[in-house]
Amino acid sequence: MKLITHSLEETKKLAENFAKSLKKGDCVLLNGDLGAGKTTFTQFVFHSLGVKEVVNSPTFSILKTYQGKFVFNHIDAYRITTEEAIEVGFDEILSKKNEVFFIEWSENIAPLIPKKHININIKFIDDKTREFEIK
Ligand SMILES: Nc1ncnc2c1ncn2[C@@H]1O[C@H](COP(=O)(O)OP(=O)(O)OP(=O)(O)O)[C@@H](O)[C@H]1O
Ligand SMILES: [Mg+2]
Repeated sequence: MKLITHSLEETKKLAENFAKSLKKGDCVLLNGDLGAGKTTFTQFVFHSLGVKEVVNSPTFSILKTYQGKFVFNHIDAYRITTEEAIEVGFDEILSKKNEVFFIEWSENIAPLIPKKHININIKFIDDKTREFEIK
């Protein structure tokens, strides 16, 4: 399914709709260039499911965990390799079946990604416009 959003407000609505279908154990891969909107979409989903904190880029900590309707793990793998991720125990973290995962730059830790996952591809169209493909 491909959808265009023309504003943050429209991306928020899309995220809220997507959030309704989210289940415990889901792993969501957010794919797209720097500044595409991966963190923005994640923040809107988490907030609509009860997370009160600001959800910002976890680039420096790699993983941030939030409590809401589910336990939400937000991973930004931009700066790490699979080997480093294994060293800090990500293989174990990612095997948890009762939490939810949102992962940016998952290609960097591809061998650790659960086989069953949802892909969200985000394309920058212009300043305010993005194309979302959910599969
Ligand atoms: N329609 C839109 N949907 C989502 N974000 C939008 C939209 N229009 C403008 N933006 C802006 O695009 C930027 C997206 O930044 P964001 O940090 O979410 O990107 P990212 O994909 O997580 O990047 P990175 O790879 O650096 O982590 C934000 O500043 C946001 O306000
Ligand atoms: Mg980001």
